[in-house]
Amino acid sequence: MNGKLCAVGVGPGEPELLTLKAVKALNEAQVIAVPKGYAEKESVALLIISPFIQGKKILELVFPMTDDKEVLTNSWQEAAEKISSLLKKGENVVFATLGDPSLYSTFNYLKATLEQYDTEDFIVEIIPGINSFSAAASLLQEPLVEGSENMAVVSTPQNTSRLKEIIELFDTVVLLKVHRYFEQVLDCLKELGLENNGYYVSRCGSSKEFFSQDLETLAGEKLDYLSMLIIKK
Ligand SMILES: C[S@@+](CC[C@H](N)C(=O)[O-])C[C@H]1O[C@@H](n2cnc3c(N)ncnc32)[C@H](O)[C@@H]1O
Repeated sequence: MNGKLCAVGVGPGEPELLTLKAVKALNEAQVIAVPKGYAEKESVALLIISPFIQGKKILELVFPMTDDKEVLTNSWQEAAEKISSLLKKGENVVFATLGDPSLYSTFNYLKATLEQYDTEDFIVEIIPGINSFSAAASLLQEPLVEGSENMAVVSTPQNTSRLKEIIELFDTVVLLKVHRYFEQVLDCLKELGLENNGYYVSRCGSSKEFFSQDLETLAGEKLDYLSMLIIKK
């Protein structure tokens, strides 16, 4: 019988923010697959789950941090082949993913690749996790939305008119992957008179956790990939 593939959301950074269900799945897995952006760097997901996986077989999968579709497709294909051969041997595989698996997770590309290229039916389970912006809101002790307010969670757009449109439409806007376009975002906030309405949060839930409302001091800095901006009007 084929093994089961289980995507486990491991939360934003603190091992204590894993769910009981996530820990149970890690205990029951024969192999734990973890994503990383660079071969030479450590996997943040692996770091988070390390207290719970003593003696487990670890499969590190590199998904390069690039927009190059061909490079990405190759990495999904390579990962899908490795996971497929484990599942066919009857091994249960957990894929540990940061935050929640439904929010910008590589897991979904991996699952689609498996479904596309492998004729075998595998059982897949998805275990939700605490996402990064919920953890950030707890850190800030700020509600994200109240009453009839509405919110958008987006991958920071490069296009500033699109960004302005989103900020104007919603009461709260969460900009993930903000590190790439932070200066443009700051200029846009200034134009809208909202430069004091943003909370920058990086590495929340880890020992390197940081937040600031003084966005101007961050301009020109090399910002962390694991960072976001929460804009509240
Ligand atoms: C590929 S997305 C993954 C989101 C993740 N699945 C989730 O549920 O939060 C990566 C982006 O999430 C945000 N992020 C993830 N973990 C974070 C953390 N611990 N602190 C701040 N931002 C984080 C950052 O904006 C980062 O660029």
